[in-house]
Amino acid sequence: MIGIKLLGAGMYLPPKIVDNEDFTKIVDTSDEWITKRTGIKRRHLSEGEYTWSMGLKAAKNAIENAKINPLDIDMIIATTVSADFAFPSVSNIIQGKLEAKNAFGIDISCACAGFVYGLDMASRYIATNDDVKTVLIVSPENVTKTVDYSDRSTCVLFGDGAGAVVVTAGGEPLYSYLGTDGTGAELLYAHLYPASNGFTDSEKAKENQKAFPNETGRYMYMDGPEVYKFAIKAMPEAMEKACKKAGIKPSDLDLIIPHQANIRIIDTAIKNLGVDKEKVYVNIKETGNISAACIPVCLSQLIEQGKLKPGQKVGMVGFGAGLIYGAAVLTV
Ligand code: ACO
Repeated sequence: MIGIKLLGAGMYLPPKIVDNEDFTKIVDTSDEWITKRTGIKRRHLSEGEYTWSMGLKAAKNAIENAKINPLDIDMIIATTVSADFAFPSVSNIIQGKLEAKNAFGIDISCACAGFVYGLDMASRYIATNDDVKTVLIVSPENVTKTVDYSDRSTCVLFGDGAGAVVVTAGGEPLYSYLGTDGTGAELLYAHLYPASNGFTDSEKAKENQKAFPNETGRYMYMDGPEVYKFAIKAMPEAMEKACKKAGIKPSDLDLIIPHQANIRIIDTAIKNLGVDKEKVYVNIKETGNISAACIPVCLSQLIEQGKLKPGQKVGMVGFGAGLIYGAAVLTV
């Protein structure tokens, strides 16, 4: 099977930083509660910037680090749950702004597991489509668009930002495991606009939308404890299955990059996996949960810090709304 090689990664975090103390001014919380229960100290928040614009900045950074030309890109995969428009897609806007004339674009909506799904998709296109050799995966997130800043149980958790990578044909195959438990769809969601037209009966519409109560308006609804329970089981399960496909044990991985939702979730999942804590990359303290952007931002920081060495096996694992989860083993 044709493998994939990581050529470069990039990131963009908006300049505005909001710390835990700032939240004590708007909701009944404390730095102590947030730090102890989540591991988060600060997060970057966008100030109305478009999601595609953050993605473009991360993409340019990744392209520069990969030392390629936008014309070398054959495919752009954007993974986001916070697109700016119903249409056009984020990947299409970024393709235009980059003048990546040889690339086609696809957006995928896989919540916080989006980057792992994007990587899986890229590797399969590279392996089976003769027209696709080099892929840009870009994960920009304006998660805070769906956050209710009067809800202390969610608002402290999220940040904004974008990560991107360029991968190309070559090297070892990517080994991945993807999973969905859609029975948990009602545990974590944010409404878009409802189907409505000049002939809509509002009582009937309410009845039709019963499964996902709209009491939160356009804001996120999350059953935190249930999502927590799912995450600590799904993350090790996915990582174990991806490692099995790669013919290795989780303890053979050189590095693990988990989705950065909550330090307690990461610690428990890693303990369940039986992996040395030293091998786990964590940046949650400074960024909070930036959904699909978490893992590529970590990759970008690891490269910048010179911590990714050729031949290393890196495990990446994500989970999120869906409920969705997935893991991949990439040889860098
Ligand atoms: N400050 C102070 N107290 C708080 C805060 C806060 N920011 N948030 C909640 N509390 C309170 C609650 O009101 C509750 O008080 P009560 O006992 O008086 O009712 C108490 O703390 C405990 O609440 P829990 O929800 O049980 O707290 P828990 O320890 O489970 O932590 C958290 C909550 C951090 C949300 C946790 O459940 C979690 O991390 N869940 C997973 C979230 C997640 O990973 N989401 C993924 C989203 S990714 C995507 O796809 C968008």
